[in-house]
Amino acid sequence: MSNKKILLTGGLGYIGSHTAVSLLNSGYDVAIIDDLSNSHIEVKDAIQKITGKKIDVIIGDCGKAEDINRAFEECGPIYAVVHFAGFKAVGESVHKPLKYYKNNLESAIETINACFKYGCKNFIFSSSATVYGNAQRMPIVESDLLSYTQPYGETKLVIENMLCGICKAEKDFNVIMLRYFNPVGAHESGLIGEDPNGIPNNLMPYITKVAVGKLEKLTIFGSDYPTPDGTCVRDFIHITDLAEGHVKAVDKIGHLENNIEAVNLGRGKGVSVKELVDTFNEISNGACKAVYGPRREGDVPVSYADVKKANEVLGWKARLGVKDMCISAYKWELSHMEKK
Ligand code: NAD
Ligand code: UFG
Repeated sequence: MSNKKILLTGGLGYIGSHTAVSLLNSGYDVAIIDDLSNSHIEVKDAIQKITGKKIDVIIGDCGKAEDINRAFEECGPIYAVVHFAGFKAVGESVHKPLKYYKNNLESAIETINACFKYGCKNFIFSSSATVYGNAQRMPIVESDLLSYTQPYGETKLVIENMLCGICKAEKDFNVIMLRYFNPVGAHESGLIGEDPNGIPNNLMPYITKVAVGKLEKLTIFGSDYPTPDGTCVRDFIHITDLAEGHVKAVDKIGHLENNIEAVNLGRGKGVSVKELVDTFNEISNGACKAVYGPRREGDVPVSYADVKKANEVLGWKARLGVKDMCISAYKWELSHMEKK
């Protein structure tokens, strides 16, 4: 009997590529559709090298019916789709909202449409902790109030609402919406990792670029928050753990009690920005020079997940700690630098 095949939209990106590796290592087949708007085709070879398995890659825009239909026709039958494709820069979405509404909403709608056209009943959506807006209560539980503070977050919430509506009408369509907290780190091989264009907005890629001398110093945004050390607190989660969460979601999706579930993927532990930087400096012999600066507009002081539901529904729990996150991120930056 052949393995179940999983289609990853945006599967050459940061989270998609790590998920591809975990799915292949768990016995699933993988097909990817990616338009390379934020990734490189070389990632295909890296995934195949790590796993020793072949994958199908379609270069195309899953927001275009002809491209996503081609993926289903050339790679099918597809057991489940994991929909990663989309733009994700929060700051850019404030200045170019239409770019975000168009790509994030069209890619979701056309991919769901294709699922119906080709009889794929299982859909996993890359959502985000951003759907909790400015959460007032920690840890954040899935049933907490949802809102948004910028267009990127709005697209995630609109897609979640759309999926709820579809699942009400289509009882045999199964959906898991995975709300990621702060994924960081890289695969232990050093062959895949996060590869942002230009100057990174996110903390970990900024730290590693300072550590290898590509950037001069890290500015820690704010030291006067109402937190133990005055810096923001986040729920950093190792990308390998996050990828495993997707495997558990694929394992589970055909056997859900309700046909739609939202699940937090985090470690459930708040770690401050200062703690993360200090840990990175421990493992790198003080390679990341950091200074304090003013707060960044729009940052919430504290965000971390309640992870009980992930354990109950998916049987999943994060295993790796902050040190592992720092070591793997640094290794990726170093190996990546040699190639460039
Ligand atoms: P990424 O940019 O590395 O990966 C996204 C991939 O999708 C890229 O390879 C890009 O080329 C591709 N893509 C974009 N639009 C496409 C389209 N229309 N058709 C085909 N391919 C397209 O981002 P990531 O960090 O891997 O994030 C994956 C998903 O997870 C995104 O939806 C993102 O919003 C969500 N998410 C990410 C984070 C995070 O911190 N990285 C947090 C929460 C949620
Ligand atoms: N930070 C710095 N200096 C930097 C970059 C970040 O101090 O150079 C701080 C931020 O102020 C914040 C923390 O590090 O306190 C984490 O910032 P990131 O930009 O790495 O991550 P965010 O928590 O702001 O955002 C992440 C994802 C978003 C998602 C959000 C909520 O990047 O996509 O989590 O889930 F919407």
